[in-house]
Amino acid sequence: MSDAAKRNAALAALELVEDGMVLGLGTGSTAAIFVELLAEKVRDGLNVTGTPTSEATDKQARGLGIKIVDPGELERLDLTVDGADEFDSKLRLIKGGGAALLREKIIADASARMVVIADASKEVKVLGRFPLPIEINPFAAELTRREIHAAVEEMEMGMRQAAGG
Ligand code: A5P
Repeated sequence: MSDAAKRNAALAALELVEDGMVLGLGTGSTAAIFVELLAEKVRDGLNVTGTPTSEATDKQARGLGIKIVDPGELERLDLTVDGADEFDSKLRLIKGGGAALLREKIIADASARMVVIADASKEVKVLGRFPLPIEINPFAAELTRREIHAAVEEMEMGMRQAAGG
């Protein structure tokens, strides 16, 4: 895993940031590089506000002088930049390995645009090279359990069809 590749990905995402934007700030080492580079721009006068997807990113961004707003106070979210654990040739992703889970999905969903930054080491032929934690909110837990079950069954069916079985 190369830090230079992560930095290049972060720099490409930084080019999409415009003055006045409200940004979702992702979690993990690649997103942390983006936050560092963003903070440099903020020191140079860029005016942005961020909302973090984890406590770690919250701490990092605040420490670097990025204005942070609580997700509950957001009026809009222009762009979220976050990392990924895996991607395949169709750019399908696995996220959640860093355990930000619920927060990162809420922020991504609320965002007008989401950009994922990842280095080549994240590319896999078949998604799912590590056990993925699942976070279930106690609210409607049984409903969520059934939906996860249905999604896994659908995925397994797709895999069997792809294998010709
Ligand atoms: C957080 O839960 C994940 O989705 C991260 O985006 C992922 O783990 C990326 O982390 P790295 O950039 O450190 O690989």
